[in-house]
Amino acid sequence: MPDDFTVTPWEVKGKVDYDKLIEQFGTQKLTDDIKQEIARQAGELHVMLRRNVFFSHRDLDLILKEQAEGKGFYAYTGRGPSQAMHIGHLIPFLFTKWLQDKFDLDVYIEITDDEKFLRNQEVDLDQTREWSKENIADIIAVGFSPDKTFIFQDTEYVRNMYPLAVKVAKKITFSEAKATFGLDASSNIGIIFYPALQIVPTMFEKRRCLIPAGIDQDPYWRLQRDMAESLGYFKAAQIHSKFLPPLTGPEGKMSSSVPESAIYLDDDPKTVERKIMKYAFSGGQATVELQRKYGGNPDVDVSFQWLYYYFEEDDQRIMRIEEDYRSGNMLSGELKQILVEKLNDFLEKHRAMREKAMKEINIYKYDGSLASQMWKKVHE
Ligand code: TYM
Repeated sequence: MPDDFTVTPWEVKGKVDYDKLIEQFGTQKLTDDIKQEIARQAGELHVMLRRNVFFSHRDLDLILKEQAEGKGFYAYTGRGPSQAMHIGHLIPFLFTKWLQDKFDLDVYIEITDDEKFLRNQEVDLDQTREWSKENIADIIAVGFSPDKTFIFQDTEYVRNMYPLAVKVAKKITFSEAKATFGLDASSNIGIIFYPALQIVPTMFEKRRCLIPAGIDQDPYWRLQRDMAESLGYFKAAQIHSKFLPPLTGPEGKMSSSVPESAIYLDDDPKTVERKIMKYAFSGGQATVELQRKYGGNPDVDVSFQWLYYYFEEDDQRIMRIEEDYRSGNMLSGELKQILVEKLNDFLEKHRAMREKAMKEINIYKYDGSLASQMWKKVHE
């Protein structure tokens, strides 16, 4: 039977069956053993690990082994800039910042102003550059270390990446790229080359790279793992996250291009309240009486899912909310109200950090200790 869901770097459709995806993509399930080892090395488990938001990996066991042996590793993630980031986009960045704190990691963040330009006929390059600036401020606001983080924009840093990019590109045939990314004869030649530029940062250091990202980015890493060793580098390791569901229902992923599906990082408190109250898909019953009698279903309720993914970090409290909702003690409106408060609290703090971050962009891009070293390196 064909799957009733699709996951590609550009599209997530249907109700994703994450166990099936592990099989399809040939990744590994994140086991309790690995989580225990992370907890042992890091001293605790991030909420997104406790709640299985990060659910799949490749070679994370190797990363932990190499870390224990003193070889270390670094982290790499990225963002295809768009007008506004939404709360789903923050998932890999919040988690990467936690890894940086716990393991004292160098972190590289690629901003693909080229990819966004090449993918969308109606978008011009000045636009994707402007969005890059705005998105970088949101990323810095997560709290990355200014001296151990390098944020680079492809159209600027490409000169330093180009020698390695052509070596990577030579290892990928057009038919592989076509099959991996769904390209065809009408695809522009820029987007055909682009995967080389998303692969190069996995080779920024001569030690293993760990990529925290949504599982939609996985096709790039499959290509990387086929060629890395032949170029004298390590196969990249990954830790994959699920998708924060859109406001409007448990299927697909929150997407910037569907405004009613998303809460943007710059939504004001009134907008957040209006969107949640109006659009948040509810797993509750049609009337108060029925809800009291039969209870709601948190597994499909988007407000509950968002609280569960990361907005309610307290394990005791989330369990209580789940029980109350399931038993009918809590109504949909009450659950939504909890989410509105949590979200507005989170966004208020984010906005304050972002204002400060706007003034720090040059540190992360050019002047911080890791950034300034990286501008002196040409990757071969
Ligand atoms: P982009 O901008 O589409 O997405 C940025 C990151 O956010 C993740 N993501 C989500 N995670 C959870 N829930 C969602 N609803 C959701 N929507 C998006 C994505 O998986 C991604 O991790 N080509 C990339 C940019 C890139 C990159 C990288 C990403 C370049 N190098 C290395 C990850 C790692 C892109 O357009 O991402």
